[in-house]
Amino acid sequence: MKFFIDTADLAQIKEANDLGILDGVTTNPSLMAKVGIKGEAAVFNHYKTICELVDGDISAEVVSTDFDGIIAEGKKLAAIHPNIIVKVPMIKEGVKAIKWFTDNGIKTNCTLVFSAGQAILAAKAGAAYVSPFIGRIDDSGWDGVQLIEQIAGIYSLQGFATEILAASIRSPLHIVKCAEAGADVVTSPLESILGLLKHPLTDIGLAKFLSDAKAFK
Ligand code: G3P
Repeated sequence: MKFFIDTADLAQIKEANDLGILDGVTTNPSLMAKVGIKGEAAVFNHYKTICELVDGDISAEVVSTDFDGIIAEGKKLAAIHPNIIVKVPMIKEGVKAIKWFTDNGIKTNCTLVFSAGQAILAAKAGAAYVSPFIGRIDDSGWDGVQLIEQIAGIYSLQGFATEILAASIRSPLHIVKCAEAGADVVTSPLESILGLLKHPLTDIGLAKFLSDAKAFK
């Protein structure tokens, strides 16, 4: 399973990358706004910086919602760096655009996916990644991890090549559950990635090893 970080914060991207386990980055307009990046030029420049920092797939989201606008924007985003994956929303015009990008050699990440039906459409259009939003599904009273399992079952049965990118991750447990459910990629905030490190018995055990080692110095 690939590990992506879900942020536009450069310090957090660097910290995750320094761990040596990072395979890519996802962002969205809300994450860009959170770090104060506004306007097309600044956003494009920020994507370029992220691509220079991390050697992996970097999702860059379009903000157009009509076919021509999505295509024009996606082409410009894809021209920033070969590792850019154009992130397109799961809407009718988005599905058409994903098919166009697929036919023209541009990789896409279909975002805002909340059902198996949407995941099937994204795969049919040839999306490289499909992004079900686990945390937001849980927030609405449904089971996000169960959706990952359902999509993984359908893709495997039908032979779809689209990779399942579990997004809207809220905890280290979400990462583990998505791994069990068959996600190909999990994109998480830094806090959830670092949360995987933690276990009280590791801390207690290490304190004991270090104190015993001191006794023999
Ligand atoms: O990048 C999309 C997704 O991960 C958003 O997460 O926490 O805003 O639901 P969240």
